[in-house]
Amino acid sequence: MPTSEQVTEALRAVIDPELRQSIVDLGMVRAIEFGDAGRVEIVVSLTTAGCPIRNHFEQAVAEAVGGLDGVSSVGVSFDVLSADEKARLQERLGRPSGLPEGALAQVKNVICVASGKGGVGKSTMTANLAAALTAQGYPTGACDCDVYGYSIPRMLGVNRRPEVSAERKIMPLVNPTGIKVMSIGFFVEENAAVVWRGPMLHKAIRQFLEDVEWGELDYLLLDLPPGTGDVSMTLAQLLPQGKLLIVTTPQPAAQSVAKRAADMAAKVEIEVMGVIENMSGFTAPDGQRFAIFGEGGGQELADELDVPLLGTIPLAENLRVCADNGITLSTDNPNAPAAQAIHAAARGIIASTPTALPLMSAPTGPPLPPLDVPISGTALPVVQAGGRA
Ligand SMILES: Nc1ncnc2c1ncn2[C@@H]1O[C@H](COP(=O)(O)OP(=O)(O)O)[C@@H](O)[C@H]1O
Ligand SMILES: [Mg+2]
Repeated sequence: MPTSEQVTEALRAVIDPELRQSIVDLGMVRAIEFGDAGRVEIVVSLTTAGCPIRNHFEQAVAEAVGGLDGVSSVGVSFDVLSADEKARLQERLGRPSGLPEGALAQVKNVICVASGKGGVGKSTMTANLAAALTAQGYPTGACDCDVYGYSIPRMLGVNRRPEVSAERKIMPLVNPTGIKVMSIGFFVEENAAVVWRGPMLHKAIRQFLEDVEWGELDYLLLDLPPGTGDVSMTLAQLLPQGKLLIVTTPQPAAQSVAKRAADMAAKVEIEVMGVIENMSGFTAPDGQRFAIFGEGGGQELADELDVPLLGTIPLAENLRVCADNGITLSTDNPNAPAAQAIHAAARGIIASTPTALPLMSAPTGPPLPPLDVPISGTALPVVQAGGRA
């Protein structure tokens, strides 16, 4: 049977989707009681009796506590915060949630790469976009938040245990094309099945964002696990400034699944920056094009969400072969059609995330030749360097 501290720790994974904090931190866990034969009873205090997210809490609490060793069943019941308690909660909410101040301070843009389901090429896009952004002169990091199915180490060709700096920060690995990389895969035995429970998962992701020495970056791309589960919630809570990039395949079914990721984003108020359609069409060596996964889903999703379609990436064997060998096609063979499409998408990302306004600077190069036509019209009074008109 777990201790009540262990149960509390597990309950940290239950996030209030509106307040974006754990119900433990919000003081919403009223009681933890232990019954016979592994039964645990949890009482959660809601802000209002008719709380629309009651079901969410019921499921999330049962899941978080049910996963602990020795727990056979979980009972979840609710009461309502008193007026006093509500006031104290409001007071506490006056403080910003999320990461401590200063973490990621030197990262200009955080982009969460998400999809409704697995296998649509989210990791491939993360890896190749990170390489393309770096190659275009924008220092970029890639953080593998797909803790169950991490594939970034393999795709970016780096895998060893990271070092820890004197300031006790985890140093990201740097891949051959200059991307700073972090993955749970660096810390576990190869191919080990990783079983994460809510709180550990929350902690691991938090640690990646907080304790990794990312340094100065223009972009940090986070490869999210497929779907809209715990990790997405955690990230939304930790990174209110992050933006979501949705990867989908062209068929209508995938698009409606991808829409769920967008709905999640709306619920936690993360901005969707755009859609990338991957595996859109295959062009055979004879030039004939096959729409293997259908057509148009990316544009439809983008229209529905009213965000730009940032790229359509064709199905291409070389993209897959490179990924399997730890190479990014976008930098290895930038002229390949799929690589060009990825670079175009990277430019779309750059265009929609202004990092700094261009400053006027003194002209460089040789002076312009004098005009050989007389200037006509009325001379405007211009203040000269000496201050007289
Ligand atoms: N445009 C593409 N053309 C060919 N193969 C692709 C393409 N995009 C992804 N793949 C391959 O499909 C598989 C699944 O992609 P992956 O990026 O791992 O998906 P996800 O991260 O969404 O689960 C990988 O083997 C990858 O190399
Ligand atoms: Mg993946």
